This record gives sequence, C-alpha cells and structure tokens, in this order.
Amino acid sequence: MRRLDGAGSTISMWHEGDYSAHTRGAKDVIDGARDLACDAIAEMDVAGSREPFHIADYGAADGGTSIDLHRATISALRERAPGRTVCITYTDLPRNDYSALFTTAHGGRPGVTSYRDEHDGVFVYAAATSFFEPIFPPETIDFGFSATAMHWLSALPSPVSDHIHMAGARGEELEALRARALADWQDILLARAAELKPGGRLLTINLALSEDGRHMGNTGGANMFDVMNRLWRGLVDDGTITASEYRRTTIPQFYRTPAEFHAPLLDPGGPVRCAGLRLVRAHTRFTRCPYAAGFAEDRDAGRFAETYVPNTRTWSETVFVNALDATRPLSQRQAIVDRYFRSFADLVRSDPDPHAMDYIHECMVMEKVRPGEG
Ligand SMILES: C[S@@+](CC[C@H](N)C(=O)[O-])C[C@H]1O[C@@H](n2cnc3c(N)ncnc32)[C@H](O)[C@@H]1O
Repeated sequence: MRRLDGAGSTISMWHEGDYSAHTRGAKDVIDGARDLACDAIAEMDVAGSREPFHIADYGAADGGTSIDLHRATISALRERAPGRTVCITYTDLPRNDYSALFTTAHGGRPGVTSYRDEHDGVFVYAAATSFFEPIFPPETIDFGFSATAMHWLSALPSPVSDHIHMAGARGEELEALRARALADWQDILLARAAELKPGGRLLTINLALSEDGRHMGNTGGANMFDVMNRLWRGLVDDGTITASEYRRTTIPQFYRTPAEFHAPLLDPGGPVRCAGLRLVRAHTRFTRCPYAAGFAEDRDAGRFAETYVPNTRTWSETVFVNALDATRPLSQRQAIVDRYFRSFADLVRSDPDPHAMDYIHECMVMEKVRPGEG
C-alpha cells in the first residue's frame, strides 16, 4: 500500500495563504473551539513553572485559520502564568507552504494580526513529520491542537472504484477504508500520548460522520461529494479523461463516527489508555457553510459559485491533478482540472439552492494522566 504521508506525499492545500483566504468555514470551526481550548488551559496546572509552555498545531496548513485560537490560548495561559515563555510548533506534510505559514505567524499577512504582535516571548517553529508518527521527543508538549486534518489517511487500501470519496464507498471497499482509518486514529493517539507531558491536554476537532448520517457537504440538499463525483465521471463520458484515471481518483479521507473516535480512549486494557491518554469531554458540532449562509442573505448566485467552489478546491485540487496520467504534461492536467471546477461553478450558479459545505466535527478534549492517576 503506497504511503501518502511521507516525503513523497502529494497532498497539499493551496499555497501563498490562499488556503485560509478561501476557506472561511474552517476558520469559523476553529474560532468556535476557542472556548474549548481556553477551558482546557484553565484546567491545567500552568502557574509556577519557569519551563516554556509548548503548543503543537497538527496539520496546520498555512496557519491562517488557527491564528486567533492561538492568540486566545496564549492569553488564557498568560492570565494564570504571566510572562511564561510559549513555544508553538506548527506541523504539516513536507509539501505544505511553510513560507506562507511563517509569513502569517510573523504578522506579514495583510489584514491578519498575529499573536506575536500582542504577546512577547512567543517562539514559532514548524515540523514536517506526518502526524501518524511521533513528531516531538517524549513528554515535551503541554497543549496539542488539531482541526480538520486527521480525516486524511496514511494510505489508501484501494481506490474507491465508482466514486471519488469514502462518502460513496460501499461493501468491502468501505470496510477496508474503515480499517485503515481506525488503525490511523490509534497511531495518531499513541504518538500524541507519548509526546504529551503528564497533565498535558490535546484538543482535536475532526471531521466526522454524525450519528444521524450527516458529514461535511452532506447535511441536507445536494451531497457535495456525489456532485463532484458526477461531474468528474462526466469527463470520462465526454472523452476528456480515461476510465482508469477516473477509477484512480479517490480523495484519501475517512469520516469516523463519534463512537469510532471515542473507542480507543474507552477501552480499559487497550494501548491508548495504557499509554495514559483519557477522554475528558466530547461533542459533535455543526458549523454552517459561510458561503451558503451568504447566499441565503444576498441571493447572489454568481458570488456564491465563485466563493463556494474555490473553497472545495483548496483542499482537493492536488488529488485530481495527481490522479491524471503522468504521461500528460502538467499543463494539460491542470487545464482538465480547471475545466472540471469551472463546470462545478457553472452548475452552482445555475442552480445554487441545494449546495453547501456545512461542517460536522467531533470535538474531543483529552488528557495525558500523571503516573499513578486514573
Ligand atoms: C483541511 S487542512 C486543515 C488546516 C487547518 N488545521 C484548518 O483547520 O484550517 C488539512 C491539513 O492537514 C494536513 N495533513 C494531512 N495529512 C497529514 C499528515 N499525515 N500529517 C500532517 N499533516 C497532514 C494537510 O496537508 C493540510 O494542511
């Protein structure tokens, strides 16, 4: 099985700050979790230490969507531990745009204020090790955070043969994806359990399949992944791409259920609890697609199509480009993908009402217990 999360990974969000610029909903999701992050800090024993407080943001992309959450987290920390030094390390895959990330964190992105403009003694770093592996030395992280990232898989057991996403997978193909996703989640938790300090906290905000069957892009109205699949398959029908290119196209993601997320933390003899990680609290959260909400207000179908479709493209484009045959020049592959997303925008413009990329997330606060506790 080809690993998708190492140096050879082609997964990448849009560069040059365009991921954050076109993904307002992901920022809404993170802003909505500021209270969870601040409460987690409030529950920790942070005062009295002269050690730096280490924060990790796993799967951070260009850092724009989490900048205000980290500002709130640092303020919450400094209320109880004034002057305590903070080290924040952003992690992502090797092809992430770390230049855009540092530009944002260092206050160079127009219209975005960095926490460094408000707080002294904050040191910013980055790491390009996959979150399925240990990224930091044992017991060095105080507060770990991750949003909308851990639904990406480490590998695809096999492509989904008649769809582009697990949302359309059935039978053995779906079960193989589920097995991969559950093993990946355990690897993520074991790696985090090892690198958290005893008493440290981990907040994850992960895309999920809710108890009532909803997931991102499928909350009533059109199922976004079915729409994207239909348009991509249409390119086979009109001879633009081959059937094998279509079959190869699978976005390597999985939406776990709340029960699947919680299971390793509730299994008394299981490796995750033995590693000291405990579930403190969890809930499933709905976040409205800001572009669909804007359309509901202004009824401007053109504006909706030109904002909603780029939002879906920021994170999926590289999957489509890389599924096309490598013998095609890159410019041809990009032209095909341009045409594909144009057809998506045309569809939304002509019939806007059913479309939305609302989010469903499972929010979880976890704690690494001290030796001898719980
Ligand atoms: C949709 S973006 C989310 C970015 C940001 N956390 C947010 O919520 O807006 C998902 C990020 O996860 C990263 N990612 C995917 N697989 C990863 C892995 N194995 N290790 C680290 N980062 C990964 C992607 O490169 C991407 O930047």
